[in-house]
Amino acid sequence: MTENDLPAEAIADPKTFTDQAALHGLLARLRRSDPLAVVQAEDHDPIRLITRHADIMAIERDAARFINAPRQAHFSNAQMEASRAAAGGVDVQKFMRNLVAMDGPDHLAYRDITQGYFTPKGLEGLRGEIERLAAEFVGRMADHVTDGRGECDFAQVALAYPLRVIMTMLGIPVEDEPLMLRLTQQTLTSQDPEFQAQGGSSMGAMMEMYMYFQAMIADRRAKPRGDLGSIIANARVGGELLPEADVFGYFLIVATAGHDTTSYAITGGLLALLENPGEMAKLRADPALMPTAVEEIIRWTTSVRHFCRTATEDCTFEGTAIKEGDLLLLSYPSANRDDAVFDDPDVFRIDRRPNRQLAFGTGPHVCLGQYLARLELSLFLRELLARVEDIELAGTPRYVEGTFVGGVKYLPVRYKMR
Ligand code: HEM
Repeated sequence: MTENDLPAEAIADPKTFTDQAALHGLLARLRRSDPLAVVQAEDHDPIRLITRHADIMAIERDAARFINAPRQAHFSNAQMEASRAAAGGVDVQKFMRNLVAMDGPDHLAYRDITQGYFTPKGLEGLRGEIERLAAEFVGRMADHVTDGRGECDFAQVALAYPLRVIMTMLGIPVEDEPLMLRLTQQTLTSQDPEFQAQGGSSMGAMMEMYMYFQAMIADRRAKPRGDLGSIIANARVGGELLPEADVFGYFLIVATAGHDTTSYAITGGLLALLENPGEMAKLRADPALMPTAVEEIIRWTTSVRHFCRTATEDCTFEGTAIKEGDLLLLSYPSANRDDAVFDDPDVFRIDRRPNRQLAFGTGPHVCLGQYLARLELSLFLRELLARVEDIELAGTPRYVEGTFVGGVKYLPVRYKMR
C-alpha cells in the first residue's frame, strides 16, 4: 500500500507513526478531501478524525461544547482492557484525577495553582539550573568519545535531561531519579513493543508512585520549601487543601507530561538539523535564530500525536452533523502540516515566521509546560552546537510505534567534541 491509499483507519495503528511520509501523505489527503473523517478501526470505538488546523483550533476553543472528560486518548479496546486488568479492576480515576481529565471551572481553578510557576517570568529563576543541566547532559556525550570521535544513541542522551529538569523543579532528589524514570515509564503503558519488553506492571508502578508521592506530600505540608512540589501539596481550592486523589494526580501529570514529549522534540530536532545541513549551518552562524528554530522543531516533531474531545450536544460543525457523545480525535501532526496555514509545510525552515504551530494545543488545556519545553530545548541546543561538531548520522533512525506520544526513539550519531 502506498502513502496515498492508506485508509483513515491507519490513524489508529501505532505502526503508521513509524513512517513519516506515509503518515503525512494520509493526513494531507484527508485535509483536502475528508477533514472530519469518520474512522472505524478494528477493535476501536468510532471517532471523527479532525485534520485541519482551523477546525482543531475551533474545537479546542469551544470548550463547553467539546469537553475532555471522559476520554482523552483513543486506544484499542484490547489496550484499554489490558490497562484495566493491570489496574486489578480498580477505577484509577478514583485515586488519581488530573488536569487533562477535568473541564470547566474545576479545571481552571486547578490550573491556576501552577500557572504562574510555568510562565516565562515564573521560570526565569530556574534558567541557571536548566543551563547547568543542559551542560551536564550534553557533556555526557564526551563519555562516548575514543580517539577524538564519539558515537552514541542521541535519543538516550535526550531522554534523561527533561526528566532531570522536572524532577529538580518538583524537588525530587537525584538519587531517586532512576526509580522515577522506571515508574513513569511503567505507568504510561506503551504501545511500542520495544518498550513493552522492558516489562513491569503499570498498576504496581502506579502504587509505588502513589506511596512515594504520599510521603513527599506529607513532608511538604509539614515543611514547605520553594519547590513546585510544595506549591501543589499546599494548594487550596475553595479554601481547602486538595483531596488526596487530586494532589497525587497533579504530581503524576507534572512528573509524566514533561519528559518524553520534550525529549522526542530534542531528538527529532537534531534529526531534522542533520537531514537539513543548510539549516544547521544557518543556526550555527546566527544563534539569534534560536527562538524561531525552536518553534520550527516543535512544529516539525509534534510529539503529542493526538488528544480527544467529546461533544456535549448535537450540533453542526463546518456543515457536518455531530451528535452528543461523539468522539473527536485532534490530529496535531496534521494541523502542523496544513498548507492553509504554513507555506511549504513539508519543508523544515529554522527561520519560519510566522509559525502558528499547534503542537501545544490551544484553548483552556493548552500545554501548561510550553514555555518550559521551549526553554529546555533552546538551552540544550545552544550547548550542543557549542560543544559538538562534525555531527552526522551513524545509522538509521527509528520512530516510536504509538498513536499518542512519540517521536524518534533511536538516533545513532557520530561526532567530535570541543
Ligand atoms: C515539546 C514538548 C511538549 C509538547 C509537544 C506538549 C504537548 C501538549 C499538548 C498537545 C497538550 C494538550 C493541549 C490541549 O488539549 O489543548 C499538553 C498538555 C499538558 N502539558 Fe504539555 N507538551 C510538552 C511539554 C510539556 C512539559 C515540559 C510539561 C511540564 C510540566 C507539560 C505539561 C503539560 C500539562 C500539565 C498538560 C495538561 C494541561 C491541561 O489539561 O490543562 N508539557 N501538552
